[in-house]
Amino acid sequence: MTRPFARIAGIGAAAPDRVVTNHDLEQTLDTTDAWIVERTGIRQRHIAQADESLSSYTLRAARDAMQQAGVEAADLDGIVFATVTPDRRLPSIACDLQSALGAKNAWAFDLVAACPGWVYSLTVAEGLMSTGQGDTILVVGAEKLSTITDPMDRSTAILFGDGAGACVLRRTTPDDDRGILATYLGADGDLAELLYIPGAGAAEPLTEETVRDKRHLMRMAGREVFKAAVLAMSRSTDAAITRAGLPPDAIDLLVPHQANLRIIEATAKHAGIPMSKVMVNLDRYGNTSSASIPLALVQAQAEGKLKPGMIIMLVAFGAGFTWGSVVLRW
Ligand SMILES: CC(C)(COP(=O)(O)OP(=O)(O)OC[C@H]1O[C@@H](n2cnc3c(N)ncnc32)[C@H](O)[C@@H]1OP(=O)(O)O)[C@@H](O)C(=O)NCCC(=O)NCCS
Repeated sequence: MTRPFARIAGIGAAAPDRVVTNHDLEQTLDTTDAWIVERTGIRQRHIAQADESLSSYTLRAARDAMQQAGVEAADLDGIVFATVTPDRRLPSIACDLQSALGAKNAWAFDLVAACPGWVYSLTVAEGLMSTGQGDTILVVGAEKLSTITDPMDRSTAILFGDGAGACVLRRTTPDDDRGILATYLGADGDLAELLYIPGAGAAEPLTEETVRDKRHLMRMAGREVFKAAVLAMSRSTDAAITRAGLPPDAIDLLVPHQANLRIIEATAKHAGIPMSKVMVNLDRYGNTSSASIPLALVQAQAEGKLKPGMIIMLVAFGAGFTWGSVVLRW
């Protein structure tokens, strides 16, 4: 495979309408707006209504990406859907989306890699394209994290939000130098219990007891996650830029996973990238896991920060521990 082999031809994002501010959280949690802003940079997040499905706002993001790419549902050869919060366990939400879009020619599957899920999915989609599984693939990252977050746990409830993002990845034409230049993925399962859900899986099926003890909700060792995150983000930026054969100062825009402003600042500092070249929008959305990078990309585009030819670095970390990065020419 000679790169660039695939390029992002269109992007879209969406979030539930309901906004929950830090001041709203002050009403139910022992926390303050000042603490949350200082420690995380987050000011508000979008939270779905209980009867609002993940599919509903994901469909808006997918349609926007397809419209921008100029592709119809019938043009899609495949759908990779990164999520840890599908609407139901079986079948995959990718198949629900295929049906909702009417993408009759597309294969579809879900990918579970937590917050770097969209970066993992871009990498997998490019790989599948290179082995002949299609020329036009919809790559989705979308979450309804409010369904796995304990609203009474101040260490997690302040961080997470709901949202969806998508892109259409298309095979490049021979004269096109835009597209994915390098990818890098990593994982360390020894760190699983830094951020995990103890129950409600096959090992511990959902029971009244599981729910009572909140074992179906996320548990996190925040300080340890923070340290592992800075390490993983730094390692990922170094690896992808090296694989791309470019110097770090070639990066025109860093679009990192939006988890914590201090993690983003440490990553940028490590890579020698000034914050003026870093896309940050976690103040508006909080941490939306696999949706965070496409949500940030769409906002960067709306703000005129994405220009053809720019070198963009996407980098993320998350539960697993997992991490990954993608370098592309926009
Ligand atoms: C969770 C996180 C914001 C906490 O910030 P921190 O600076 O590490 O804070 P600590 O956990 O050390 O806690 C400091 C104090 O604030 C308190 N505190 C924790 N959450 C609080 C909140 N929401 N409001 C007010 N005080 C809070 C703690 O109880 C602790 O009090 P103590 O000093 O009396 O013991 C931070 O660790 C973080 O963002 N970690 C990464 C999490 C992440 O990105 N997860 C997603 C991965 S994809």
